[in-house]
Amino acid sequence: MDIGVDYYPEHWDRADWEPHAKLMAEAGIRVVRLAEFAWSRMEPKESRYEFGWLDDAIAVLRAQNIRVILGTPTATPPPWLAAKHPAILSVTKEGRPLEPGGRRHYCYTSPVYREYSRKIVTAMAGHYAEHPSVVGWQTDNEIGGPMCWCDACAGAFQDWLKAKYGTLEKLNAAWGTVFWSQEWSDWSQIPLPRHTMHGPSILLDRQRFHSAQVLSYHQMQVDLLKRICSKHFVTHNCMGFYDEVDYWALAKQLDRVALDFYPGNKWGQGKFNSAGHDYTRSLKHAPWMVMEQRSGLTGWLEMFNSGDQPGQLRLWTWQTVAHGADAVVYFRWRTSRFGAEQYWHGVLDHHGVPGRRYREVARVGKEFAALGDRITGAEYTAPVGIVIDPDSRWALEIQKGSPVFSFLGHANAYHRAFTALNAGVEYYHPADDFAKARILVVPSPFLCDEALAGKLTAFAEAGGTVVVTFRSGVKDAANVVVTDRLPGVLKLLTGCIVEEYDALMENESFPVDLVAPLPKKPAKAAVWCDQLRLAGAKPLAKYGDGPFKGTPAATINRVGKGTVLYVGFQGDPAFYGILAKYLLHAHGLDSRFAPSDTVEITERVKGKERFVFVLNHGAGEAKVKLPARTAWRDLLTGQKTGRALNLAPYDVRILTPVTAG
Ligand code: GAL
Repeated sequence: MDIGVDYYPEHWDRADWEPHAKLMAEAGIRVVRLAEFAWSRMEPKESRYEFGWLDDAIAVLRAQNIRVILGTPTATPPPWLAAKHPAILSVTKEGRPLEPGGRRHYCYTSPVYREYSRKIVTAMAGHYAEHPSVVGWQTDNEIGGPMCWCDACAGAFQDWLKAKYGTLEKLNAAWGTVFWSQEWSDWSQIPLPRHTMHGPSILLDRQRFHSAQVLSYHQMQVDLLKRICSKHFVTHNCMGFYDEVDYWALAKQLDRVALDFYPGNKWGQGKFNSAGHDYTRSLKHAPWMVMEQRSGLTGWLEMFNSGDQPGQLRLWTWQTVAHGADAVVYFRWRTSRFGAEQYWHGVLDHHGVPGRRYREVARVGKEFAALGDRITGAEYTAPVGIVIDPDSRWALEIQKGSPVFSFLGHANAYHRAFTALNAGVEYYHPADDFAKARILVVPSPFLCDEALAGKLTAFAEAGGTVVVTFRSGVKDAANVVVTDRLPGVLKLLTGCIVEEYDALMENESFPVDLVAPLPKKPAKAAVWCDQLRLAGAKPLAKYGDGPFKGTPAATINRVGKGTVLYVGFQGDPAFYGILAKYLLHAHGLDSRFAPSDTVEITERVKGKERFVFVLNHGAGEAKVKLPARTAWRDLLTGQKTGRALNLAPYDVRILTPVTAG
C-alpha cells in the first residue's frame, strides 16, 4: 500500500524540486502523479517535444525512491493548438465555442483533436516506456464533459444513429417520431437536440452518443499506452457517481479504477462518504486507488469551502482503504501560487513550510509502511448489492417524474440505510454476476428487459432477496413506454400490479402503515406513490392517507427459495432503516457491532485474514463495544484490545481477530 501526491514541478523553481522530494520521502510518499496538465511544456510548439525538464524532475524524485504515474495532458490543449485549429473547441448548446485559457474545452469528436492527442500520447509513451521510475498512466483528467454541439458532433450523431438503427424506418418506429409529425426522411435532418421540446428517445440516444464519443476517444489513448508501454498499468481518475460518460464501460478499458475524493463542505458526510468509494470499487469489483484526495481547504475563484478538521485527512485516507482502496494519492503537494485553483490547498501551504496537514500525511505514511502489503488486495465484504443501470439513470434524469425525484438520491437512500447498520454494499451493472450478493436492491429499473427480469428471478429462486422499487419496467430500450401493466416484465417476479401512480411534489408526503413482518413503526412516503394490486404477493405496507389510502404501497412475494419486495414509494430514512434491518436479519446478517451514524465499521478479507476497520467520523469521542468471544489485535498499535474501544475524534482502528469467534 502506498501514499502519494499530485505534483506539479512545472509550477515551481528547479531549486525547489529537491527539497520537495526530500520532504515527500520523509513523509513516506512513494508515488507521485505528474504532467497531466503539462502539454504546453512538453510540446511548446507543434511537434517540438521537450521532455528534458520532466526527466530532470523524475530524476530528483527517483533519488528519493519515489515512483511516477504519468498523466496524458489532453485535458488541457495548449493555446497554439486552439489558435491553429479552432474546430477542436467544444461548442455550447447555445452555439458558442469555449475559449482557451482553462481546461476541458476540447471536443471528443474532432478528428483534428484526436490526431493531436494521438501524437502527444505517442510521444510521451515512447519517451517513458522503459523509464525505471514510471509504473503507470492516468489518461486525460476526469473525462466526460462537456457535451459538445459542434458541426462534427452533429454529423457524427447522424452516423452513430445510422450504425445503430440501420434504416430510418427502424429509427422512426423505435422513437415514435409520428408524434408531432417528426418522421425523419433523411439522416441529415436529424439534429443534435438543442432547444426544441424533443421526445425522450432522441434525448437518451444523444446522451448515449456523447458517452460513446468519450469512450472511443479514451480507448484510442488506452490502446496507444497499452501497445507502447506494455509494462505499465492504465487508470483514470473518476468522480464517484458522475455520469456524463458510462463509467461501467470506461472501467472495462482500464486496468484499475481511480477516484478523486473531495468530501464536501463542513467536513463531508462522514461515514456516508463511502457511497462513492463503493461505486468506484464496484466498477471493476476489485481493489482500486485514490488519485486525488482532498488535503486541505478547497477554493476556486467563486467558492471557498471550509477546511478539514485535525485528524480528518488521516481518517478519510483510512476510510478509502476500509472500502477497498490500495493506494491513496493526495491532491496536491503544495498549494499553487497562481491559476484558477490558487486556494485549492495542498499538503503544504503556499509558503511550503510543513505544518499540521503535512504531519498528518506523514503519520499515515508511517502507518502504511508498517502494514506493508498485508491488506493489499483484500476483498471488501459486501452482502448487499445495488443495481445501477446507466440507461435507466439517464432516462430518469431526462424525465424525473416527480420534480423532487433524484435517481441517485433514491438509490443511495438504500446505501445509507445498509451502511448505517454496518452492512457492506457493492454496486452492480445489470449485466454483472450478482452471485456474491444476498440482498439485491434494484432501484427504479425504468428501462428493463427480459434478460434482467430473468437474472433477478434466478437470483430470488436461489434464495436471494430482491427489492424492486417504483418506476420499474416502464420503458423499452428506445425509451418508449411498454404496453404491459407495470411493472412490465417484472410483474410475475413481484407478484403485484401498479393500479395507478402519482407524482408527489416538494414537501408532500403520506404516512405509511407497515405490515408484518415489518414492525408497526411510523414511516412516510414521498416523491412517488404506486397504488398496488396484489397478484400473488402479500402487502408489506399500506398508505395511511392520501388518494391511495388503505391500498398496498409495498409488497412481498415468495419466489423459489427467495423473496421479492416491491416498494412503490420513496420512503423516509426511518422506513429505509426498518427495511434494511429486517432484510439483514432475515438473512442472518445482523452486524455484531452496534449501529451508529458516526462510527463506521467495514471488513476486508484476504485468505484467512480478516481486517475490521473502525472509523470514528464524529467530532467527539466514541465508545465501541466489540463482540464477545473474539479477541482482537489492533494492527496500528500491534496491541491486543479490550472489549471496549474508546476512539478519539476522527480516530481509526484496524482490528484483526486473534482467535476465531
Ligand atoms: C479535480 C481535478 C484536479 C483539481 C481538483 C481540485 O477534480 O482533477 O485537477 O482541479 O479537482 O479542484
